[in-house]
Amino acid sequence: MIRPVCFRYRFAFYAGIVFSLYLLQVGCSRDMAEQPSFQPQEAPRLHSPVGSVPRESREDLISIPSPTPALVDRGAAVFETNCTPCHGKVGLGDGPVGAHLVIPPFNLRSKQTQQKSPQEIYQIVTDGRIVMPSFKGVLSAEQRWEVAYFVKSFGAGPAETSGMGGKR
Ligand code: HEC
Repeated sequence: MIRPVCFRYRFAFYAGIVFSLYLLQVGCSRDMAEQPSFQPQEAPRLHSPVGSVPRESREDLISIPSPTPALVDRGAAVFETNCTPCHGKVGLGDGPVGAHLVIPPFNLRSKQTQQKSPQEIYQIVTDGRIVMPSFKGVLSAEQRWEVAYFVKSFGAGPAETSGMGGKR
């Protein structure tokens, strides 16, 4: 008479343990710990310029904007924020970060770069290169055109070099 009661309690006891372990496992999802958030040890990320929303940054423009002086001016601001660390203040490839890269940033005033069409420069900014990062998720399509036209506005100036970071 006593045995079955005891068995029932023992069953409930073990079932309880298994159930609590199950709850513990459900409650301890690592989603929060493994989220793609910014970690303290990470290098600073490029801050998003005004108006850059990821959705818009991945969009392609149907028509290519024409290089008005105002558009080129906006390109100068985009360049200063996003390109000067590597390509330097005036695009000679002598930015402070550039010195630490395996391939030095190119001198954007060189004949090599200036022979490129704005479309080609836009594409390089969009896709990135071997060392140069892609700006597709950082700059909107408009901003990429603005900066491409700004780079074109340098012209092949007197500071022309081989196009290898002004160093080779
Ligand atoms: C992290 C450093 C870095 C940043 C930031 C960067 N670049 Fe570059 N860029 C490079 C390097 C390095 C190269 C040489 C190609 C490579 O990556 O292998 C290059 C190449 C280029 C080229 C190709 C030149 C040629 O003649 O082939 C263009 C154009 C260019 N960058 C434009 C830009 C513009 C515009 C920006 C800002 C929106 C920018 N880059 C930001 C590092 C950078």
